[in-house]
Amino acid sequence: MVESKGWNWKIVKENQKEIWKNPSIESYYLINRWKSQGKEDFLDLGCGLGRHSILFGKNGFKVSCFDISKEAIDQTKKWAEKENLELDYRIGDMLNLPYQDEQFDCIYCRNVISHTDTEGMKKVIVELSRVMKSEGECYLTLGSKDTWGFKQQDFLRVDENTRVRMDEGPEYGIPHFYADYDLIQKLFKEFEIVNIYQVVDYYEEKGKTCKSYHYHVLIHKKGN
Ligand SMILES: C[S@@+](CC[C@H](N)C(=O)[O-])C[C@H]1O[C@@H](n2cnc3c(N)ncnc32)[C@H](O)[C@@H]1O
Repeated sequence: MVESKGWNWKIVKENQKEIWKNPSIESYYLINRWKSQGKEDFLDLGCGLGRHSILFGKNGFKVSCFDISKEAIDQTKKWAEKENLELDYRIGDMLNLPYQDEQFDCIYCRNVISHTDTEGMKKVIVELSRVMKSEGECYLTLGSKDTWGFKQQDFLRVDENTRVRMDEGPEYGIPHFYADYDLIQKLFKEFEIVNIYQVVDYYEEKGKTCKSYHYHVLIHKKGN
């Protein structure tokens, strides 16, 4: 299995951090959905700078913040303290979550669990299932095989689904697992898949319009 490696948040410039400080669109939908289902214990897996930990904390969830990067956890803690929020913080690897079985009602992992290879992905899914309560839900994103990074010849090929990014930046040397619809169905066969969307993000880089594709997946752990 490829070695886990967190984001190098220290080299991300202040102006580039802005996008990582504003909660993503679907988080507002999930707050409503999960509140109406009576869910409380929330895990922000790979919390980054904490944009979703803070939002869910402000909305009354009991939040656990988890990331492999100490810098990410330090930044999240600093922000939460400013907001007078009491959250739980752990540094670690998603391949071995430091939580009890069935601890969480809901888990959010946006642009996180793809940071491994095929073997690692299977392990993360076992861990997710272990720490989720029965009838719990998890929202996750996965890089799509339609995205440029999967086809990039300069990136190291680890296995049929995984490439290691070799371009300069906070993701240098980090594995990226890419999926397609059939693979997602296979990986999450133990769960009920509530929905799957493939989303295209458009962004400008060096004067060019670039596109990246991600699957957004909501899974539900079936009751015993
Ligand atoms: C793209 S950022 C997304 C952050 C956050 N989910 C958000 O949407 O703002 C990915 C985060 O996952 C963390 N990460 C990468 N590999 C990890 C691993 N094996 N275990 C835990 N966290 C990991 C990185 O350190 C980084 O903070």
